[in-house]
Amino acid sequence: YKDVYGKGKPIDIDPRDRKLSFSAIKVLASRYLLKDAKTWRFKETPQMMFRRVAHAIAEAEFVYCRNKGNSDEYCSEATKFWEEKFYEIMSDLRFLPNSPTLMNAGTRLGILSACFVIPVRDAITTPEGDGIYDAVRAQAIIFQQGGGTGFDFSELRPEGDIVASTGGVASGPISFMKMFDANTDVIKQGGKRRGANMGVLHVWHPDIEKFIDAKSGKLKDINLQNFNISVGVYDYFMDAVIKKSKVPLINPRRTNVRPDLGNDSRFYIISKARHYLNEDWVQEAILEELESKGGSIWIDETVMVTIDEAMAIAEDKDAIVKYEDASKLFEKIVRNAWDSGDPGLLFVDTINRRHPVWYLGKINATNPCGEQPLLPWESCNLGSIDLSKYVYIDSEGMPRIAWRQLAEDLRVIARFMDNVIDVAKWPLPQLEQAIKRTRKIGVGVMGWAYMLIKLGIPYDSVDAIYLAYHLAEWIEYNLALASIELAKERGSFPIYDSSKYKPTWLTAKPLEELLNIAGIKDRPSKKVLELLSDRPLVNWNYIEKLRKEVGMRNATLTSIAPTGTISILAGTSSSIEPIFAVAYERHVTVGTFIEIDPLFLEYLRKYELDNADMIKLVAERGSLSEIPFVPRSLKTLFRTAHDIEPKWHVLHQAVWQQWVCAGVSKTVNLRFDATVEDVREVYILAWLLGCKGITVYRDKSKAQQVIYVGVKM
Ligand code: CDP
Repeated sequence: YKDVYGKGKPIDIDPRDRKLSFSAIKVLASRYLLKDAKTWRFKETPQMMFRRVAHAIAEAEFVYCRNKGNSDEYCSEATKFWEEKFYEIMSDLRFLPNSPTLMNAGTRLGILSACFVIPVRDAITTPEGDGIYDAVRAQAIIFQQGGGTGFDFSELRPEGDIVASTGGVASGPISFMKMFDANTDVIKQGGKRRGANMGVLHVWHPDIEKFIDAKSGKLKDINLQNFNISVGVYDYFMDAVIKKSKVPLINPRRTNVRPDLGNDSRFYIISKARHYLNEDWVQEAILEELESKGGSIWIDETVMVTIDEAMAIAEDKDAIVKYEDASKLFEKIVRNAWDSGDPGLLFVDTINRRHPVWYLGKINATNPCGEQPLLPWESCNLGSIDLSKYVYIDSEGMPRIAWRQLAEDLRVIARFMDNVIDVAKWPLPQLEQAIKRTRKIGVGVMGWAYMLIKLGIPYDSVDAIYLAYHLAEWIEYNLALASIELAKERGSFPIYDSSKYKPTWLTAKPLEELLNIAGIKDRPSKKVLELLSDRPLVNWNYIEKLRKEVGMRNATLTSIAPTGTISILAGTSSSIEPIFAVAYERHVTVGTFIEIDPLFLEYLRKYELDNADMIKLVAERGSLSEIPFVPRSLKTLFRTAHDIEPKWHVLHQAVWQQWVCAGVSKTVNLRFDATVEDVREVYILAWLLGCKGITVYRDKSKAQQVIYVGVKM
């Protein structure tokens, strides 16, 4: 305040800024609030930042309004109206856009989205700008402005393969990844924040074993430290793991049948066909599959191949390097994930089965934290609602959910997110083209654990799962309505095709099915059914009718981000995660925070347990599970990530995923003493439940982690 208002002027702190916690202010001061380049003094307060963002994002309204032939005066009014709405939801901390929007909106920097996927073709550079070094350049530009990048390296020829132009040998995807990693380290110095990457290699690649080992054992605290890595697995692979059969490894350089299919589609056919061919009943099986689809098969739902073509591709023996035991690969994956957290899995078939604009091509990669499976050059801007702010206490003293207010806010949020695409300045033409085709937005949630605590529902309970499913549906429903309304006003996204578009709401698995798969027999309590009875009815048939008549403004609507920073700003629990600990040390770029969960402190006060001894005990342990004298109700409500059985972590991810168009970022946090078998179960359950990917992290499995349970005293 002193910096902004100068000396001599009385300092009135905006009451809205008083809502921000100490950690929130520290984070804002470190990178978000604008500073004068010369004096290094702050140019804005937190409220001024929200105003800057609201103002910049509302500018899109003016353009749309003018394009309809309205007067300047009228359009200024309309723009101001939306600016106020945007400012209000942000400054009340009910909704926050992802960090790049907060940092860059209304400034010279134009990237407002957090998530990008960049293609890496098997060439040093290409005229189209999608070779290996083109990707390195794109990565640098995106990092400079605070975005995160994901890559599929599967098209790169394996290590030791021939390089025709030089007669030399190829270094393989893992070596090239090291360069992307080093690039991240270098850019970190001048960029807005530490860059994050996702590196994907599909399970059919000959270098897959090396990839699986790239961040574990001796390498775990050394290699590829700026990468999360994930193995792209397919249903045929998971089936082979269960059946203990073999799968082919394929050299991406050596297959030439139907080049128009794109490498990954061809490998898909080969690996699938070869997998069958390996067993005696093959030919029939594949023929049967093909014939059942009218003599041809949709590969990744974008291109059709005939039986003859599929067989020719499958017979393309040159491409197959060897056969590998699927279960051997899988055991390696789970052992390493147990050891170091990497690799995770991407379920490529699930992603593509549920990809609403599948007719644009097959998705092979995600952004760094997995919440955005994207096509090459695509990006997505994210924003998250703090669910805990939608719990109110009714006249009888009972906590309830403000369903209608949530619906109202979602309309404002959809508009905000759609505007972001227009006001962003895109540093590469490919990025602008890709996003403007589909206008994907990613609205997510934070404060889910806090909401449950406030409602008195334990995280590891059927009640929580029931509520998650219906709440996620409500969010998707209202955003669908909002996007249809926007389409009416502004038109559908350019490549919208009402007959091909595959809405998320038509592919959600029923809750009963999920509970059955997970072996959960309990049914929801009366309390949760009552909470749900306040929810107005949803009518998906009505949405489908509207969608077909009017269209959709955005190809995807929802995405659950980790909300690592914005949940600190909002003073809430992150994403859909359970609380990590009741007391913790958090190590972030701007320093170390020692914190006691503020909601927990509130409850301790309620129970008159907030004495120094209790606080000390809680701070040391980080969890209540073994502390005597704490009431049982408090213990069940404040169960932490490590107190909760892995199955419940996966279930939360899976139920949210059913109503989420993109992906769900979630870490299944395991106790230090969890076993390799636990990891195996988590990975298989995630696949069966229809998750799009899965990641685990076993406590203290790496030399350094961002957050530690308890406080070292
Ligand atoms: O809370 P905030 O908006 O800062 O970000 P988040 O929800 O924790 O992360 C959202 C996405 O931002 C991640 O999935 C990455 O794509 C990107 N990100 C990044 O590039 N670098 C970071 N240090 C953190 C996040």
